[in-house]
Amino acid sequence: MSVSLLAARGLDYRYPGGITALRDLHLTVRQGRKLAILGANGSGKTTLLLHLNGTLRPARGEIRLDDHPAAYDRRSLDRWRCRVGLVLQEPDDQIFAATVEQDVSFGPLNLGLSEREVRERVASALRALHIADLAARATHSLSFGQKKRVAIAGVLAMRPELLVLDEPTAGLDGQGVAHLLEALQHLHEAGATLVFSTHDVELAYAWADDIALFHEGTVLGQGEALAVLRDREMMRKARLAPPLLLEVVEALDGARGDSPPRARAEVLDLLRKRLKGAPLAS
Ligand SMILES: Nc1ncnc2c1ncn2[C@@H]1O[C@H](COP(=O)(O)OP(=O)(O)O)[C@@H](O)[C@H]1O
Ligand SMILES: [Mg+2]
Repeated sequence: MSVSLLAARGLDYRYPGGITALRDLHLTVRQGRKLAILGANGSGKTTLLLHLNGTLRPARGEIRLDDHPAAYDRRSLDRWRCRVGLVLQEPDDQIFAATVEQDVSFGPLNLGLSEREVRERVASALRALHIADLAARATHSLSFGQKKRVAIAGVLAMRPELLVLDEPTAGLDGQGVAHLLEALQHLHEAGATLVFSTHDVELAYAWADDIALFHEGTVLGQGEALAVLRDREMMRKARLAPPLLLEVVEALDGARGDSPPRARAEVLDLLRKRLKGAPLAS
């Protein structure tokens, strides 16, 4: 069992105006895992993520860091945000400097690092997202997908232990999603813990280790991705259909197997093997 890096215990949150966004929400982020915050629109995903780096403060309950209650004074928040980097859904809400290099440098400069260290971090963050060639570009001239990568690079340059991403694949085309996931996978393999929100069950099936299933501001259940996605009753309650790939695998192989194929190519291979010899529908 890996260590709990960050946890939410009994969070309640209400927006000014009276909308209750979180209610008695419990969640654990385990070190070294990829956790999907999976839920329909309006289920409270973004609100929860804003609690994970102290941007919002719960009305009731607490965030625990390394199993200690988080504190909200300036110094504690600064330390917290060095460890937990949040990438907002809209890159325009995150990017504000004139050029890519300036934008990605901003965080590390604020940490008071030497110029050399800042340069090194910026270069390595840009390389990790495959956007080294954009360094001198004006941020306002970038495409949405490029901006998304710049926003992630800016957080990455802070070298957080935990990278939190709000709907990282939203608005990207197929190739953009593939490139982004590849970059995030490298970061994960280099030791980063990842938390990402999504309403995309296929993404959660293909990519998450664990899933916390959200519904109306609370977590219906958290566990290994496959166990959560196979819980039809809980998925129905969350108003989500099961992933098509999982349904295909189960139709071919029954509900057996602890590690069914998750990648599209593997599922297609399985399908082809099963169809060999069998007549194809015309
Ligand atoms: N700034 C805000 N002011 C008032 N209500 C909000 C605000 N942001 C979100 N909400 C409400 O809080 C609930 C949860 O929203 P959100 O966390 O954005 O969900 P999700 O990210 O899962 O779509 C929704 O009912 C939404 O309308
Ligand atoms: Mg959201």
